Amino acid sequence: MSSGVETIYHDVVILGSGIAGLRAAVEIKRKYGDKVDVGIISKLHLMRSHSVSAEGGTAAVLYPDEGDSFALHAWDTVKGSDFLADQDVVWKFVKLMPMEILLLDHWGLPWNRRPDGRIAQRPFGGHSFPRATFAADKTGFFEMQTLYNKLLQYDGWERYDEWFITNIVVEDGAYKGVYAINLREGKLYLFKSKAAIIAMGGGGRLYNFTTYAHTVTGDAYAVAFRAGVPLKDMEFVQFHPTGLVPSGILITEGARGEGGYLLNNKGERFMLRQECAPTKGELAPRDIVSRCMMREILEGRGFVHEESGLGYVLLDLRHLGEEKLNERLPAVREIAIRYAGIDPAEEPIPVRPAAHYTMGGIHTDGNYKVLDTEGRWIRGLFAAGEAACASIHGANRLGTNSTAECLVSGRITGLLAAEYALRVRESDVTGPSPERTRREEEWVWGLLSRESGTPSYEIKREVRNVMGKYFYVFRDGDGMQEGLAKILELRKKFRESVYVEDKDPIYNTDLTAAIETANLLDVALVVAKLALNRTESRGAHYRLDYPKRDDENWLKHSLAVRYGEDDVSISYWPVAVTTWKPVERKY
Ligand code: FUM
Repeated sequence: MSSGVETIYHDVVILGSGIAGLRAAVEIKRKYGDKVDVGIISKLHLMRSHSVSAEGGTAAVLYPDEGDSFALHAWDTVKGSDFLADQDVVWKFVKLMPMEILLLDHWGLPWNRRPDGRIAQRPFGGHSFPRATFAADKTGFFEMQTLYNKLLQYDGWERYDEWFITNIVVEDGAYKGVYAINLREGKLYLFKSKAAIIAMGGGGRLYNFTTYAHTVTGDAYAVAFRAGVPLKDMEFVQFHPTGLVPSGILITEGARGEGGYLLNNKGERFMLRQECAPTKGELAPRDIVSRCMMREILEGRGFVHEESGLGYVLLDLRHLGEEKLNERLPAVREIAIRYAGIDPAEEPIPVRPAAHYTMGGIHTDGNYKVLDTEGRWIRGLFAAGEAACASIHGANRLGTNSTAECLVSGRITGLLAAEYALRVRESDVTGPSPERTRREEEWVWGLLSRESGTPSYEIKREVRNVMGKYFYVFRDGDGMQEGLAKILELRKKFRESVYVEDKDPIYNTDLTAAIETANLLDVALVVAKLALNRTESRGAHYRLDYPKRDDENWLKHSLAVRYGEDDVSISYWPVAVTTWKPVERKY
């Protein structure tokens, strides 16, 4: 630790270095070159961002000649969203996507190919055309590598790997700066810039059983929330049907796209039942598949993992054969062998729904400009990727629309942030008040002051247990009330007793783990408050006490803004229903 906060300046700072962040950086550089200087800040090394774990594919309409269309992609997305998506934003998204696939192709991404040499695509849940563009089952890794390679062709950008962002500042309706600890030095810095793009990913680690890396701790949402920025639709958390038991590692939906079956303990393909998805089967949208899986498990038609006690069903890929597994799903095979001791060529894989995606996020418009509750742009501030809620995914995202949104939102925000930066004079960049910076120092280094207390990992474990118990696939009012009370207790415990044992400023991961825990506690509060408030079932938010969708009262987005120490103020935002009126959702 050292006192005093030095300032670093860039025209645009990008917070986070996943697909959305890198795509934004590439867009700025390829459009404006040296005219706009960029800083990329990440708590990780650039290629360690969780985006590298995206597996199954990226959605885009590539073959209108074979029956796909923008209208079909848009309709699938809107129906998949349980009609909460903003349809104007969805249209724009589907129209921009094909170019993204082609750009990546030109920049060197090794997409799988068809025998005729054209780019291959495969089926995915909820899509009525096989439009998942893929590179084996390592799509995110290849997208990251391609974007990084592309970025290396340009000058005028600097990376800040292993700089831990503690907060952003919004004052007087405008973005003012970002605080980050340089972990190598153990010093706090202030980044000043004309514009900032928040692209720090999602919040999967709010749950124990998740497909997400330990680093995905809701940082984007928490820094926005603490700065008074509204979070939208945070009650909608996606549970991916096939988390590997017992670790939760992702078994891509591409496995079902290639023909995999889900089986219960009687060997039945339960997804084909009338009450599940008789026409789509295993390729229904994730909210539906996860609910059907959990019913099998809860009603005794699943299996129980001996060591963990986790209930599960089986994903059977044996009929695909070794050759196809090796060509199309090599990571699935490797992951199952390494982490469950099961070769999918010979045995079915144990799976259950795992926290996978946050449909909600930082409230933005269709250009990913961050808005206040009145719809005014918070000047200079953008959000992209999973951090943002534009809203394309509504109450339930379709697989492969997430890496796609990272690309589209990265492109849009890169361009708009650069254009904005070119319009603003550097002398007009004032930064936060000295008083705000003093408070930041006090908060960050104050976490080291206690000599005993509760280690943050204990609180983190407890909050995850609460979320897994009360805010999982099925929810109800009484349970969620109990869950919220526990979250409030944990927030109090954190404030009154969190203890960082390591006092060394250099690479103090004990300190950053404590801040990540604070972030998770903020996100948990928002999810719990909004989930309790929404008295209907829609998409991934399924309430046993309100099992029906209620368009009359709830066809609207929820907004949550920080209110005092432990509360949020809730307001609403209209859904853009521009093309399709909500209808019953059947598959
Ligand atoms: O299953 C998967 O490969 C996940 C894809 C996604 O979430 O978009």
